Amino acid sequence: MDQFKNPKLIIRPVTQLTAQHWQLLLLADPSRKLVQDYLQKGTVWEARKDGQSVGIMVLDEIAPSRLEIKNIAVDPKFENQGIATALLHYALHFAKQRRYHRLQIGTGSTSFKQLYLYQKVGFRITGIRRGFFVKNYERPIYENGLWLQDMLVLEIDLAK
Ligand code: ACO
Repeated sequence: MDQFKNPKLIIRPVTQLTAQHWQLLLLADPSRKLVQDYLQKGTVWEARKDGQSVGIMVLDEIAPSRLEIKNIAVDPKFENQGIATALLHYALHFAKQRRYHRLQIGTGSTSFKQLYLYQKVGFRITGIRRGFFVKNYERPIYENGLWLQDMLVLEIDLAK
């Protein structure tokens, strides 16, 4: 398991955002405005390893029974070590404990690593927001050699 891969990983709430946290938040979402919007209501969690912040996650209740992971990012120096997997498992545990029915996450249709990771953890694609990245971002985004236009919405049904 990811926690086994990362025995020294600590996941804890963030009360005061630092410049380092912001760097991570903007890695996942280049729109400072959108991030500021969901930070109004969302709760921020960080993954810490050897005394430093290596990952971040924002959870937001978007409906009474629905929790969304609005933002998740890992410091590039610590990628592919299971840190995002550990954060996703933490979100799942948290959502189940709080009796949410659904856990949701959105990502780009060109975000292949993210799509692999989310489906590996158990998320299933439930929707598409066509043109989301064209309407909401000032500049075109290119990823994996493709123009990113659409958002895919993935969910886990926690009631099952
Ligand atoms: N294609 C497919 N799979 C890949 C690729 C790739 N190009 N590169 C790596 N992988 C696999 C790894 O092998 C690993 O799988 P495994 O556990 O089966 O070996 C998995 O993807 C990565 O798992 P983790 O190590 O748990 O993930 P990591 O800690 O590296 O974090 C994350 C993933 C959050 C996407 C990180 O790369 C990141 O911060 N990227 C930039 C920000 C970002 O895109 N955030 C998500 C945006 S969506 C949102 O915020 C709601």
